[in-house]
Amino acid sequence: MEKSSISIQLTSSKKPKPQSDELAFGRVFTDHMFVMDYSVEENWHSPRIVPYQAIAMEPAAMVYHYGQTVFEGLKAYLTKEGKVLLFRPEKNMERLNKSNDRLCIPRVDEEFVLEALKQLITVDKEWIPEKEGTSLYIRPFIISTESYLGVAPSKTYKLIIILSPVGSYYKEGIAPVKIAVESEFVRAVAGGTGTAKTAGNYASSLKAQEVAEASGFSQVLWLDGLEKKYIEEVGSMNIFFKINGEIITPALNGSILEGVTRNSVLQLLKHWGLPVTERKISVEEIAEAHKEGKLEEAFGTGTAAVISPVGELIWKNESLVINNGETGPISKKLYSTITSIQRGDQSDEFGWTTEVSTVEKEKVN
Ligand code: COI
Repeated sequence: MEKSSISIQLTSSKKPKPQSDELAFGRVFTDHMFVMDYSVEENWHSPRIVPYQAIAMEPAAMVYHYGQTVFEGLKAYLTKEGKVLLFRPEKNMERLNKSNDRLCIPRVDEEFVLEALKQLITVDKEWIPEKEGTSLYIRPFIISTESYLGVAPSKTYKLIIILSPVGSYYKEGIAPVKIAVESEFVRAVAGGTGTAKTAGNYASSLKAQEVAEASGFSQVLWLDGLEKKYIEEVGSMNIFFKINGEIITPALNGSILEGVTRNSVLQLLKHWGLPVTERKISVEEIAEAHKEGKLEEAFGTGTAAVISPVGELIWKNESLVINNGETGPISKKLYSTITSIQRGDQSDEFGWTTEVSTVEKEKVN
């Protein structure tokens, strides 16, 4: 498909924009969205930017019944000079197709979807918030739309991209969170859909999250689905530990989602010359390290929160307080480095940012 094939229908009634300092996560949406359709005969077709609106589908549409759907999450940032930057968007496009493969959804042209995403951001660029800690969250997703109740891959789909100006994901911001080690429920198993960004993984995480929240925790620490022994993820993020100077993250094992922030953190730590290992790590090992005074830091990594320090872990009714419940130096350095690169405040040595367009400063609210 040609870039020029994207039709644009602008809204006739622009919505009021929220104040930058009132932004939460994912509650406000911009004026436009991108849509394209898939059918067996026409492949992906009819790419269009239209006013943000409800989607009409028959109640028999397959996504409502069997959850054949995938999504992505990435952010656009406004630099001090008014440039709009994306952070490693090609990684999200690549992962979208990996998720498509797992969910039997037809692959998309990664370059074309990235171009569509850039055009949509350009149309709604006045919505990109300026204040530090804010950004424009981009949510591409694909839904199965065929009306059919048989369990089979749908023959039709819609790819939609919506945009949401956001503040911090957790109300705590970059403050440390209290996490319960989850010993009953599991998020995913190797061979399942854990490596795909698909709705079912998040739906199945809700029960554990609800129980944890009722007991005063922010999130859960997920263990492997077979032995419930090895650490996999924290909430909807990847996890890192610093033990006796070494930084460890669970190795990708067929059930862990390969985070773009995880990958960026690994590259940064190696670049700083710090010892970093991807391997299996058990919760016993963490408890042991804590007992010996060697558990120095723990933090989650993800697009939404970037870095989320873990201040306390609860396991078998025992409390493991990490770094006195404070944000550790590695977490702070990673957060400030990644967010500075994302916002164009620091030189982008790794070539991680992509420029979308320039916004005239006076138009930005
Ligand atoms: C992220 O950390 O970016 C996530 O995956 C959370 C998202 C589902 C809101």
